[in-house]
Amino acid sequence: MARKPLIAGNWKMNNTIGEAVVLAQEISNEFYNDWSDHVDCVVCPPFVDLKPVKTVFEFDRTKIGLGAQNVYWEPSGAFTGETSVPMLKEIGCSWCIVGHSERRILFGETNEDVNLKVKALLEGGIAPIVCVGESLAVRDAGNYLEFVTAQVRAALAGIDEGAAKECVIAYEPIWAIGTGRTATPEQAEEVCAAIRATLNDMFGADNADPIRILYGGSMNEGNAALLLAEADIDGGLIGGASLNAKSFMAIVKDAMR
Ligand code: 13P
Repeated sequence: MARKPLIAGNWKMNNTIGEAVVLAQEISNEFYNDWSDHVDCVVCPPFVDLKPVKTVFEFDRTKIGLGAQNVYWEPSGAFTGETSVPMLKEIGCSWCIVGHSERRILFGETNEDVNLKVKALLEGGIAPIVCVGESLAVRDAGNYLEFVTAQVRAALAGIDEGAAKECVIAYEPIWAIGTGRTATPEQAEEVCAAIRATLNDMFGADNADPIRILYGGSMNEGNAALLLAEADIDGGLIGGASLNAKSFMAIVKDAMR
């Protein structure tokens, strides 16, 4: 099955509200709605920027999607500092990144946490973008396929076969994030193909086939086309290059080719 490409921009902890509104407007200006027949384009700003960015997108009637960068699995209650699925839903998020390596490393997010977040998002009708990826030490040790596929199994454990197709997996080797050192298309494809085989094994080929697998890690307008040409790479999760509207849209255009 030919999967529709997905290009998502992870703004990380960048852009005050004023800056976010400017960037959202620039991105919207660059995007033509009929592109959405061929590619899903999503931006994931910090929580405080979600509503202002949504307001820009609504005003422009753009078909660019909105995603959050994290979520908590309980719907409400005494969880100081956290944000729930219903809150994201109300703002208009259709997507949410979970398990980003920065959250796993800096904030102690575990595979079990990621699994709970995935389940809560699916229940609430928000598509999880589940990040997986190995450190340089794991890559050098040679067991990166086992490591990454175990992360996929843990993140999606207990998910209903029918709901699995709503999930997106983002393969982001930690050694390629923000380093300018991109995985080669062959390196990325090797792991994405192993992820695809794991998904087939977990959910059956028919249910797993629509699940999109993204590559992330120093993806930019110079290297996107070759990565996106690989059979099991269905899009990109873009960090640094998503903070510039023209660079981000150049990648979106590459995904349509
Ligand atoms: P960079 O594109 O800045 O390497 O970041 C990738 C990433 O972590 C996206 O989630």
